Amino acid sequence: MTQQWDPDAYDQHARFVSDLGAPVLDLLEPLAGERVLDLGCGDGALTERLRRAGCLVVAVDSSPEQVWAALERGLDARIIDVRELDFEGEFDAVFSNAALHWVSEADLVIRGVWRALTPGGRFVAEMGGAGCVQSIRDALGSALATRGVDSASVDPWYFPTEDEYRTRLERGGFEIESIQRFPRPTPLPGDVSHWLGIFAQHFLDAVATDERPTVIEEVRTQLEPELRNTNGVWVVDYVRLRFKARRTE
Ligand code: BEZ
Repeated sequence: MTQQWDPDAYDQHARFVSDLGAPVLDLLEPLAGERVLDLGCGDGALTERLRRAGCLVVAVDSSPEQVWAALERGLDARIIDVRELDFEGEFDAVFSNAALHWVSEADLVIRGVWRALTPGGRFVAEMGGAGCVQSIRDALGSALATRGVDSASVDPWYFPTEDEYRTRLERGGFEIESIQRFPRPTPLPGDVSHWLGIFAQHFLDAVATDERPTVIEEVRTQLEPELRNTNGVWVVDYVRLRFKARRTE
């Protein structure tokens, strides 16, 4: 299946994703006049900030709905799968926030990024790192297992360790300036059921439509002691992998 994005639901329940992207923008240190490729731009909230910094930004995403939302901001947004980048030496920097963990073919992405950059160009990104949303993955795994589904067969997320991603980047022709993996417990603006509806579609689609509300309720009940604090706020166990690398030649 392909993940479907609803820009309105995203805006209401997942705005924290772009709001928390500011440190990655800081790491990029965008300069006015630089040509920047934004990979997995979503609705373009961070692309807009790059443009405000004076960058000439091309934003790509595989979701037509999100690209449409980005176009409505007046951005140069294109429907392109990050595995199929065909830019050649066109960018001073490639930027990505919270997108690369949706693509398990990491080497393919890295190759496309390398080709898109000019020699010395930088690749600055943040994605989920090893251990990200482990509690949710486990709870979805148990709920599907009781229904005879092996969740590994539908799990779309790729959360590498820093060693694994460093090796891939170096093999792909990049020099690492920094790479860190760190926990970032993330408060949700609402109930975890909204998060599941937006982000866990691959798991929910593995069961019959009329069974999905029951699965969500079961997962919610399993997660509540671990993820809901005494003020009633859901705090999800996000882990980030953040890096800055340069194309070496
Ligand atoms: C993340 O940004 O790390 C993330 C997004 C969706 C699902 C899981 C993790």
